[in-house]
Amino acid sequence: MIGERDANRVRTAGDRGPRRPTRREFLGLAGLGALAVGGCGLLPGGESDPLPGIPRPGKTGHVEKYTFGAAPLDFDVAGQSFSTWGYNGDVPGPEVRVREGDTLRVRVENRLPEETTIHWHGLPVPDDMDGVPGLSQAPIRPGEDFVYEFVVPMSGTHMYHSHVGLQLDRGLYGPLIVEPKSEDLSYDREYTLILDDWLDGVSGRDPERALEDLRNAGGGMMAGGMGGMMGGGRIEYPLYLVNGRPPEDPKSLPVRRGERVRLRLMNPAAETIFRFAVDGHPLTVTHSDGLPVEPVEVDALTIGMGERYDVLLEANDPGVWQVAAAPEEKPGLARALLRYEEVGQSSPPPDHRPPNLAGRLLTYADLRAKGLDSFPGDGGPFTGPDRVHRLTLSGGMGAYEWRIDGQVYPGAEPLEVREGEWVRIELQNQSMMRHPMHLHGHSFQLLNGTGRGPFKDTALVQPHMGGLALDFHADNPGEWFFHCHNAYHMESGMARVISYET
Ligand code: C2O
Ligand code: CU
Repeated sequence: MIGERDANRVRTAGDRGPRRPTRREFLGLAGLGALAVGGCGLLPGGESDPLPGIPRPGKTGHVEKYTFGAAPLDFDVAGQSFSTWGYNGDVPGPEVRVREGDTLRVRVENRLPEETTIHWHGLPVPDDMDGVPGLSQAPIRPGEDFVYEFVVPMSGTHMYHSHVGLQLDRGLYGPLIVEPKSEDLSYDREYTLILDDWLDGVSGRDPERALEDLRNAGGGMMAGGMGGMMGGGRIEYPLYLVNGRPPEDPKSLPVRRGERVRLRLMNPAAETIFRFAVDGHPLTVTHSDGLPVEPVEVDALTIGMGERYDVLLEANDPGVWQVAAAPEEKPGLARALLRYEEVGQSSPPPDHRPPNLAGRLLTYADLRAKGLDSFPGDGGPFTGPDRVHRLTLSGGMGAYEWRIDGQVYPGAEPLEVREGEWVRIELQNQSMMRHPMHLHGHSFQLLNGTGRGPFKDTALVQPHMGGLALDFHADNPGEWFFHCHNAYHMESGMARVISYET
């Protein structure tokens, strides 16, 4: 791909000394990639003058229409039926698949007994289409309809879900796949794997009850031993699912020897971080949160709530192999099966844990942003952060309450930004749990020490004084949620509004 090759050449030219490329150089080559694709050629000497913004994809003019009925339903899991809430009678909801630049129009018919909304997780949509109740829209009342409509601004593996209360911990989620206009990735087939932790309707439990249990347990530190709870304020779920299927009734992923297979992994679970591996097959990570990264080979990866990864695997070892997602710090397993069509072998047992779950694990420091066909935002020249928000994450001691910089949402001050600024957020985690922090409306660049950290929208902050820093370009005016994607933490205060000054 032309833009890619030219970008590499410029990167070499611009990075002469031992120092890392600066942010400005990085963004310069971003601009250059876009120019080269547009046929405008190279800038002299590989130097990057401040460039105009990278445009979002132009409108294709094509309108892709869906109708989602949000309603109670009976969800069949391994011969048992649980009543839950979902879209169009199934869990997960229907796959939305569009091309970047298309217009997506989704009519939501709320037939739930409660208000609802849909959030397009990963897409920087216009503010009034973002689905945060009371912030970007009035919630859709029972019996009412609402139409979401926007030009799809970015390619990648994303998801959609309800953003009201704990509704995410029912079946109100689904995959949102945006195909790029072009992509230098070749593969023979692809599968989408949607990981979930499930309690709704099992032994009379539902998410509200689970939250009550957490609160009654007197906070995170004392929750051990309660039915369905464990120490540290985590919820131990009775079931873990891949694409709505339990380990006893796994989804099969048919492949042929010699094929290259793309897996789109997403974690819309409410309270569970998974470790993912495919027995017998290393994984090449190609995208994080929908955006391309330099390929990196690993045995396993950790995927927090709200995160997505795309990986490739080479199908070169016939058999029937466990595709495993192990809940971190909780017992149980979610699985699917990689099944070569040539062989008729028996399946591994439901609880088989592939040894490579304990192999080489992806870290954020392994990830580098790549190619810039899908560059998020308009990429104005980076001149150092214009504004820094330093925030602590805390909670879970004493009461089940979670805080950003000591404040509990909704009684929390907004974080101000101004349009056009580069904003840095530095997080320090004073609690004992990991928090997958998610930013609406923008992709951010993780500062991972490489100078070319990946662009993401959700990132896990490690516990016990773990830290994380990210930069984003304030290019999408509005009021945006920034929160922990643990649904129970969000519901217990771990959220802020990022507010554009006017
Ligand atoms: Cu997927 Cu505010 O969330
Ligand atoms: Cu959290």
